[in-house]
Amino acid sequence: MKVAGRVVVVTGAGSGMGRELTLELLRRGARVAAVDLRAESLDETSRLAAAGPRLSTHVLDVTDRTAVDALPEAVVAAHGVVDAIVNNAGIIQPFVRIEELDYPAFERVMDVNFWGTVHMVKAFLPHLRRRTEAHIANVSSMGGFLPVPGQVAYGASKAAVKLLTEGLYAELLETNVGVSVIMPGAVATNIAGNSGVAAPGGTDAAAAQAAAARTLPAAEAARIMVDGIEQDRLHVYVGRDSRVMGAAVRLAPKQATHLIQRQMKRLLAD
Ligand SMILES: NC(=O)c1ccc[n+]([C@@H]2O[C@H](COP(=O)([O-])OP(=O)(O)OC[C@H]3O[C@@H](n4cnc5c(N)ncnc54)[C@H](O)[C@@H]3O)[C@@H](O)[C@H]2O)c1
Repeated sequence: MKVAGRVVVVTGAGSGMGRELTLELLRRGARVAAVDLRAESLDETSRLAAAGPRLSTHVLDVTDRTAVDALPEAVVAAHGVVDAIVNNAGIIQPFVRIEELDYPAFERVMDVNFWGTVHMVKAFLPHLRRRTEAHIANVSSMGGFLPVPGQVAYGASKAAVKLLTEGLYAELLETNVGVSVIMPGAVATNIAGNSGVAAPGGTDAAAAQAAAARTLPAAEAARIMVDGIEQDRLHVYVGRDSRVMGAAVRLAPKQATHLIQRQMKRLLAD
């Protein structure tokens, strides 16, 4: 679905890829309803966009089903219609093994990443079905197809998003609604800080610099995502790491798992 002139809802629009998605969609001529938990971050996105009435902001927690159910009406009030949703809001878990991960942390990750996406899909699908052409894009992760020690609950939540989205694609084939699952690799954002999680590998400058060198800028990730939506692709791999590991996990799943385990184990306490 070409996004020019369309109304697109973006969750997690106050930071990282959600903010860059908002800016990219506006640049390509879309109208955007930007959604986030944090009012101040949405204000900053709005300031950067300087898009006037083409951008509306909605402070909301995607885990709150009642609030999400009321969102389509607010978006329609602001823009007249709604053509697409990008379910991008997400959090990671503390970098610990599953033995040390407490239930509240496990449940929070599932609530935001999986149930937040379900709430949005259920609330908006009846509206999207009424358009001539519409689109749903759900942000999963490289961690949704590749097991990462220390992020097992996160991976499970993103694997659930992946299969939910592939199932939706199958159910909505031959309808007006296109569906994409987006799988970013490592992207430079403040997801650890925003998730209330200490970054693995410490916070010293050298570690931060090394990590930054391995990650894709969020603006580039956003361009790849919007291209994927505009090309109606089912699977959108974002970054070389995601593309390469996507192939590796299909060809040699055990070896790919061992490779990531070796890279991650030094980041986890013994
Ligand atoms: N950064 C990466 O390397 C990476 C890799 C793969 C996938 N992802 C996924 O990409 C998406 C965007 O991540 P990011 O790295 O830009 O993170 P980010 O922390 O920069 O942005 C996420 C935004 O979501 C918002 N949010 C969190 N919980 C929310 C809730 N309950 N309701 C509404 N908004 C909420 C946050 O306030 C934040 O503004 C996430 O789904 C993440 O899991 C990120």
